[in-house]
Amino acid sequence: MSLLNKKSASSSPLRITRNISRGELIEFEFNHQKYSAYSGETIATALMANNIRLFGFNPVSGEPQGLFCAMGVCQQCLVLINDHLVEACQYPISQGLKIFAGKISTPQYTTLASNTHN
Ligand code: FES
Repeated sequence: MSLLNKKSASSSPLRITRNISRGELIEFEFNHQKYSAYSGETIATALMANNIRLFGFNPVSGEPQGLFCAMGVCQQCLVLINDHLVEACQYPISQGLKIFAGKISTPQYTTLASNTHN
């Protein structure tokens, strides 16, 4: 089963639909595929609502990573934006944002990994 799903966030069964107001419907890209989300959501929320669970890979073990603590502590949710690693659970989604899965080979990722595992 693929970890990526092109389903629209606006029709996701994971979303609460009653008694809630949302921001503007926007589009973003993850690994070159287009998805939708709502303004005001975090990247992690946008990815999860689009049924994306794989956010990147552990720089040491190569194991897949995704949302874990959802409060900016574990860094399991790191994704790449403009060649910078950001915590998907802390960074807001925005119109046209281009996001990539965190990769093992980027210098930032390697530096971050060596700093967090000492
Ligand atoms: S899920 Fe732990 S820092 Fe984002």
